[in-house]
Formats: sequence, structure tokens, C-alpha cells
Amino acid sequence: MTFPLEFVRSAFCGLDDGWAYFDNAGGTQILEASVTALAAYLRQKNVQTGGTYPRSQAAAESLAVNRAAMARLIGAHDPDEVVFTPSTTSGFQLLARALAPQFAEGDEVVLTVFDHESNIGPWQVLAERGVTFRFWTLPGDTRVPRLEDLDALLGPRTKLVAVTWASNILGQVMPLGAIGERVRAAGAQLAVDAVAYAPHRRIDVNALPIDYLAFSLYKTFGPHQGVLWGRRSLLEALAPQYHHFIEAVPKKLEPGNPNYELAAAAGAITPYLEALGRRLAPETSGAGALDAAFAGIAVHEGRLAEQLLAYLRSRPDATIVGGADGLAPDRLPILSFRLAGWNAGAVAEAVEAAQVAVRFGDFHARRLIEHLGLASEGGVVRVSFAHYNTEEEVARLTDALTRFVPPR
Ligand SMILES: Cc1ncc(COP(=O)(O)O)c(C=O)c1O
Repeated sequence: MTFPLEFVRSAFCGLDDGWAYFDNAGGTQILEASVTALAAYLRQKNVQTGGTYPRSQAAAESLAVNRAAMARLIGAHDPDEVVFTPSTTSGFQLLARALAPQFAEGDEVVLTVFDHESNIGPWQVLAERGVTFRFWTLPGDTRVPRLEDLDALLGPRTKLVAVTWASNILGQVMPLGAIGERVRAAGAQLAVDAVAYAPHRRIDVNALPIDYLAFSLYKTFGPHQGVLWGRRSLLEALAPQYHHFIEAVPKKLEPGNPNYELAAAAGAITPYLEALGRRLAPETSGAGALDAAFAGIAVHEGRLAEQLLAYLRSRPDATIVGGADGLAPDRLPILSFRLAGWNAGAVAEAVEAAQVAVRFGDFHARRLIEHLGLASEGGVVRVSFAHYNTEEEVARLTDALTRFVPPR
């Protein structure tokens, strides 16, 4: 089955201005269906939930349906395990505050140097409880952390491990199953940043030994909103973040209520991916269709990644920051590199002449960029694909790199 690019591209806004958008790990384009759902919500249901009158009930029903759609996307059986947040960062900030009463002086938290700051900084609030932090690092300048290094950090006082599922710089998928088993065995909880992973691979929270997971819908084809998932019993044990008398999940973790119209926009993501899955595998539905969609996305994106990486491998002045094989199963199409003698910012600006949008910097994974010794010269150039990108667009980028950023 060939990847149905025409179906895919026509489902998105913003792809018709002639530009190739390769900053998808920064933010993807949004589904037309999300925009339609957002406008329809505001036009037809824009009242407070919780009233007895029909429109209020319709608004509440809309929120429930959209929460359930989000639960389907990540394999959660209980929609109340889905908390809508303004962003992933604020989701982790909220989780850290809500977990804080469970920590005591001398407890330990394991963080990593390869995470986005979003899953590092928010946990520092636990220092007020006397918690100490231990950092899981990368060996030398390699891209894959060693499980034995994690083992050495886990101990009887470890209460929480916070780790990313995939690096937003390296495109490296982390061995979450093996990590989760170790964290479980240590009697600790595991909080996962799935932001870089979610647009590219299927998430099934119940297939993994994890406790909390957060991701950003504006990087997953939807609106500027975040999702925080947690196992129900764990969410119930968290300190309320709304008014003291609001005790039910997820409400007690959504202060001031979630943004209803953004929830409506978010609710359109799962049906789109299910429709894509049915196109790729007509006999599937539900979870099977989502599996098929992400299987198709992985193959298409792998081809694009390999196209760019093959070009970079052919350039002696290029340093690929991450795995060099675009088809490797643990490699996401988030491709960072440097070209000798060029500032990363100059590279990003140069390819704009060919209407190609890429990005440079440390992408708020500053500890990783510093650990890798890449903080100077503008950090790295990052090219991140979404499944609506095409081989023609990638060829436009490689041509532009050859023409406007030649070896020097
Ligand atoms: C891997 C990763 N985690 C977390 C975040 C933060 O997400 P948000 O902007 O929703 O707080 C980002 C944003 O770039 C990211 O790439």
C-alpha cells in the first residue's frame, strides 16, 4: 500500500503556501477538522458546563467525547485518566506540585541530561521537600543511554524517575519498556515525556510499565494544548490542584476547567488518524486502525529521514547528531546536524531562499546540547518531518543545502 499523501495533505491547513515545513518537532500544522471543530464548538456550545439547560449539557457532552477520543489515541481505557493542560511544561509543573506531599527529606528523583527542560526543571520544586536529584547521563558523546547507568542511580530512596520517550534533538527512541521495568523493580514511579514520540509512533499506555505521560497536541496535529495521562489510582492519590472541595479526577487536576474549545479541536485528531489507518488497512477499525496509521507513518517518515541522512552522510563536512540510519526502528525523523564552518543559524536562514523552514538552536534541551559540546555556533540545525512531508520537499532542502550552504 502506498502512503496516501494526497488524503493526508488535504486534511491539513497551511500546506498550500509553497513552503516545506520541517520544524514539526517545534509545532506541526493543524488538521482542518480541528479548526472546524473549534469553530463549531464556539458557535454552538459556548457556555459553562454543569448547568441543567440543554446547551450546557451539550458542552459537557462535547468535553466527555473529546476526552474519550484522546484516551483512545493513547490506549487509555478510562477517559478520566486524561487531564487537559495548557502545555506539557505546565502539565509536569502541575504533576510535581500535586505529587509533592508524597515526598520526604532524603527521597531521590532521577532526571536525565537528554530530556527537554520541560521534564527536568518542573521537578526542582521537590527540592523544597528535601529531595535530592540524580542525573542519568549519556556515555561520552553517544546517543543511547546505558541501562546499567540507570541501575546505578536507582536505590531504596528513589521515588520517581522522569525520562523522555524520545529525544527532541537526537530522534532517538529510548528503551521505555526496559526502563519502566527497572523503575518498577525499584518501587519508584515513572513520568514520561512523550512529546517528541507522539506524532510518529503509536502510544499504548497500558502496554508499558509507566505511571504518567505527557505530550503536546500542537506538535501532534492539533491545537496549542497539552495532555497529561496518569493511572487512575495514582491520579486519585495526588493533591488537588483546583478548589479544595473538588476531589474527582480529572477535574481536581484541571484548575479553572480545561479549555473547552481546544478540547473540541483536540478531539478531531484521533478520528483523522483512524481514518488514515483504515485507508492503509481497510479491514481495521479502532485501535487496529491507529496501529495501521502509525505503521504507515513510520514507513513514510523513515524514507524521508533516510533521504536526508543519505545526503548528509555524503557530505564530509556534515556531522549528524544522532543515529545516521533513517530506517532504524528506534530512529524518529527528528534530524539534527552541523555543517563545518557554518553557524547553525546561517544554515537555517540560507535554505529559506528555497522556501524551506527549518530551525536551529538547543530546542530547550540545553543540558543535552551542552553535554554534547554543541552549544557554540548556534547549536544544531534541526529538520523534523511530519507524515505530510514529501520526498520532493526533502529534495528541495538537500538542493538548497548544496547550493546555498556549500562545504567550506
Ligand atoms: C521533547 C519535548 N518535551 C517537552 C516540550 C515542551 O512542550 P510544551 O511547549 O507543550 O510545554 C517540548 C517542546 O518543544 C519538547 O520538544
